Amino acid sequence: MQLHVADHPLIRHKVTVLRDKETKSPTFRLLVDELVTLLAYEATRQVRVEECEVETPLTVTTGTKIADPAPLIVPILRAGLGMLDGMTRLIPSAEVGFLGLKRDEETLEAITYANRLPDDLTGRQVFLIDPMLATGGSLVMAIEYVLQRGATDVTCVCLLAAPEGIDHVREAIGDRADVSVVVAQVDEKLNEVGYIVPGLGDAGDRLYGIV
Ligand code: URA
Repeated sequence: MQLHVADHPLIRHKVTVLRDKETKSPTFRLLVDELVTLLAYEATRQVRVEECEVETPLTVTTGTKIADPAPLIVPILRAGLGMLDGMTRLIPSAEVGFLGLKRDEETLEAITYANRLPDDLTGRQVFLIDPMLATGGSLVMAIEYVLQRGATDVTCVCLLAAPEGIDHVREAIGDRADVSVVVAQVDEKLNEVGYIVPGLGDAGDRLYGIV
């Protein structure tokens, strides 16, 4: 597993406003969207492309286009949905699947409650999006899901990560597959109830209000 921390002053600024407990949902959503666009730029550096011919007003030349099969973007519900628009804006030809995972608040383990993914992901490049890489339980489960279906490379895009979560993903996946994690910032630690510290609180609640 490869970790890429997308360090940039604009990213640090936006993450700081996200962390602020006074930042309300509309601003929070907007900032998540802007951050994802910046992270997606980094996360798509290895997106598969192929040569194509393009006719300009003057001549015919060789260009580049995103290769088939199109990448698959998978938001991990619910908080990952807040990152979807930012990703599809950058890769409009991508297809979108959905994976609903939630934490058992006692064991902190991930439980699947929804799954809309193609059965066959052979040769597909998959982008898993989830704002908080906390224990890593849901992300490992999501990575295993798509690898079992044949995905060959998986890029996880997260806003904040705890060192414990990164270690968990690294240990669980190892060098078994081409998996990378792109994150805006790595925080200090997880607290005793599995929240990232200093973090930003519950990303789903802050995006959508408490449901
Ligand atoms: N999920 C969140 O939304 N926030 C955390 O800090 C950890 C997991």
